[in-house]
Amino acid sequence: MATISNDIGLAKAFLVRGELVAIPTETVYGLAGNALDEQAVLSIFEVKNRPSFDPLIIHTDSLEKVHQYVSEIPEAALALAQRFWPGPLTLLLPKKSIVPDLVTSGLDRVAVRIPQHGLLLDLLKELDFPLAAPSANPFGYISPTTAAHVNAQLGSRIPYILDGGASRVGIESTIVGFEDGQATVYRLGGLAVDEIEKVIGAVNVTAHSSSNPAAPGMLKSHYAPRKPLFLGNRESFTPGHGECGYLLFDQYLNDRDTKYQRLLSPSGNMHEAAHNLFACLRELDALDIATIYAEKVPVAGLGAAINDRLQRAAAPQHDQAKN
Ligand code: TXA
Ligand code: MG
Repeated sequence: MATISNDIGLAKAFLVRGELVAIPTETVYGLAGNALDEQAVLSIFEVKNRPSFDPLIIHTDSLEKVHQYVSEIPEAALALAQRFWPGPLTLLLPKKSIVPDLVTSGLDRVAVRIPQHGLLLDLLKELDFPLAAPSANPFGYISPTTAAHVNAQLGSRIPYILDGGASRVGIESTIVGFEDGQATVYRLGGLAVDEIEKVIGAVNVTAHSSSNPAAPGMLKSHYAPRKPLFLGNRESFTPGHGECGYLLFDQYLNDRDTKYQRLLSPSGNMHEAAHNLFACLRELDALDIATIYAEKVPVAGLGAAINDRLQRAAAPQHDQAKN
């Protein structure tokens, strides 16, 4: 099994040798390797069992370093970077040739992010290469928000997990690209769209649109638990045979055993709900139950991103990416 501790010297030693390390970020844990080393990048796809048409985000610690990997930063992108980095925002920017095509699945743009996590930033400062890191889950499963989550699923396949505690934000970064100066949100995430719009004005959102892998980042059934998940209003939860689990926003169902219920945020706080989302789904998935019922949360703030993850978790089996 993987060694788990908070030793950035050890993490660096593995990474410099081309090996993979799971890293903490404020969004979710990542499965990291040297983004400039094609062999390391290949092993990320292998360990995660991820199709090579789904490109990776690179992580670094400063705007100066970002300039080494991208040829241009549009004005609106720079405004967002200055306001929200380090933070749960990923920008799609035209890549320089130093970034292997494998990282971007042959696309012209590379996804870049400066994460907001002290231990990880300390590690990134020590490295003279960026880290390519998808979420550290097997492809198609819920993202990990603790070292234990990573260990449960990938612990036998990687040498080291850098333990930085539970991910503060709890859902993946918001992904934004730019066409002719106009911003488009490709994935709803840990930075709410209205926060982005306060800085650069109205943006397009195409994050819900597709189950077509030709549009990377938008595979419909992502983030799925193993148990079938039904998304709806609590009034519609009419359990069939066997016990069921319930993922609820801020109030228990009175007529069911609380053992089978998880609240995202008893106080109705959307940040707390996002923080708890994947851990609650994992807990329900591990219970001796047949199905999970989840209720939609109010769409304010991060609510839209939470509902997006629930919708993808609820996608019918035949829509699921099997790879
Ligand atoms: O919060 C996060 O973003 C986490 C942490 C570890 O940083 N990472 C993450 O990575 O969620 P991943 O690989 O699970 O999701 C990245 C998404 C993918 O759906 C991918 O298709 C999209 O970003 N993406 C990456 N590069 C892209 C590109 N060049 N163009 C369009 N989409 C891209
Ligand atoms: Mg992922």
